[in-house]
Order: sequence, then C-alpha cells, then structure tokens
Amino acid sequence: MDVLVRLLQLLVLLLTLPLHLMALLGCWQPLCKSYFPYLMAALTAKSNQKMESKKRELFGQIKRLTGGSGKVALLELGCGTGANFQFYPAGCRITCLDPNPHMEKLLTKSMAENRHLQYEQFVVASGEDMKQLADGSMDVVVSTLVLCSVQSPRRVLQEVQRVLRPGGVFFFWEHVAEPRGSWAFLWQQVLEPTWKHIGDGCCLTRETWKDLESAQFSELQMEQQPPPFKWLPVGPHIMGKAIK
Ligand SMILES: C[S@@+](CC[C@H](N)C(=O)[O-])C[C@H]1O[C@@H](n2cnc3c(N)ncnc32)[C@H](O)[C@@H]1O
Repeated sequence: MDVLVRLLQLLVLLLTLPLHLMALLGCWQPLCKSYFPYLMAALTAKSNQKMESKKRELFGQIKRLTGGSGKVALLELGCGTGANFQFYPAGCRITCLDPNPHMEKLLTKSMAENRHLQYEQFVVASGEDMKQLADGSMDVVVSTLVLCSVQSPRRVLQEVQRVLRPGGVFFFWEHVAEPRGSWAFLWQQVLEPTWKHIGDGCCLTRETWKDLESAQFSELQMEQQPPPFKWLPVGPHIMGKAIK
C-alpha cells in the first residue's frame, strides 16, 4: 500500500509540477495567502446553507455561557472571513484571530452584516501563540475548519485552554482523516502534498479527535458527520464541544 501511495503521489506531483516548483522557490505562499480569503468566502455561503441546522444547534448553546461582564467573550480562532458570525447570539463580544492579514477585508464585510455582535479586535497571530490574549479571558473559543491547517494542534489546544476561563467552552467543527486502510484514506494520502499548497496548509489526514481526547478538557462531546461537499477529498467532519 505504501509503495502505491508513493507512486501515485509522484504522479500527482508531476502533474502539478509548476505549483510545487513555485512553492519550493517561495513564490506560491504569498499568492495563496491573497487568494485564499476569496476561495473561503465562495465556499462558505454554500457550506453554511448545508450546515445551517447543525451550526444553529451547536452555537445556540453559547447564550448560556455569559461571563462576569454579563456578555459572552468569544474568541474565533482562525476566523477566516467570519463564516460563523450569523449563528452567534446577540451581544457576544468577538475577538477574531487569524495569521493571514488578507482576511481582514472580507472579515470587515461580515462584521458589517452582523450588527448584532460587538467586535473587540482582529489579532493577526497563530493559534499556537496567542500571547496578546490574557489567561482565562474568554468564555468561549470557536474553531471551524482550522485544526487541519495549524502547525501544531496540540499547542493550539494548550493555548485554547489557557485563554478559556474555568468552565469556558471550546466549540469545534473540523474535517478529519478517513478510516485507515480505506481507499478514501489512500486518496487523501496521495493528494495531501498538493492539497496542502492549494488549501493554505490544510492537511487531509489529521486524526484531530486524538488531539482533542488527549488535551485534558474536563468534558468532551463530539459526533461524526458527513462532509458538506462530497466532491472535495476532505472526508468526514467532527463537531462538538470541550469544557475547560
Ligand atoms: C479553512 S479556513 C477556515 C476559516 C473559518 N474558520 C471558516 O470556518 O470558514 C482555515 C483558517 O485557519 C487559519 N489558520 C491557518 N493556520 C492557523 C494557525 N496556526 N492558527 C490560527 N489560524 C490559522 C487560516 O488563515 C484560515 O483563515
């Protein structure tokens, strides 16, 4: 199986050689960072239509999580273009964090369309190092389709726990690897090196549920769901919450 994966990876690499050469020379990444917000914005409208009832159910729980200020302090990790804003209850105080500064233009547009929320700041940083945010300062942290792209899910989850107050909740919706040994997993392995360039670092074969299970939250609930887009190789999704 491993030899077949290597051979097919090589074939895909040859077919997409210009992309890999550009990445090697360092000229692909800046291009990717500037087109990626528009790609995400295009996919988000369709994906939100398909996920509407599930996202409403998940984020509907946020209104019970009011902190000391009487409002919910919410950190949107890897906020992208603000795909989840429409699902948050009125009055949430939103801090947006993303390492890609090009997200800000489309993020500002989403903010203008969701006046029921209060925006605190847009922090350009990685989830692995959120030093701009104080310990225990958030009632809620949200991550949707982000842990596939970070350098270290383990470090990000440690930071999530640091910024959450005791009893604070981490809500997530992430795509994960297909079952090992399946043909779908084989194709994920074949496509991953190329997909990572197209998808701004997105990994197809992450078993993110393992990182969540070992992150030492006091409680963890999750369910597996089918992907919103069957034509993409991203595979099954996990949705749920983890309590600090
Ligand atoms: C697939 S997009 C998802 C965006 C948004 N959360 C959504 O659901 O549409 C992945 C996002 O994670 C961000 N990201 C990548 N690496 C990150 C990191 N280390 N820490 C935080 N966010 C990261 C990307 O810039 C991008 O905005």
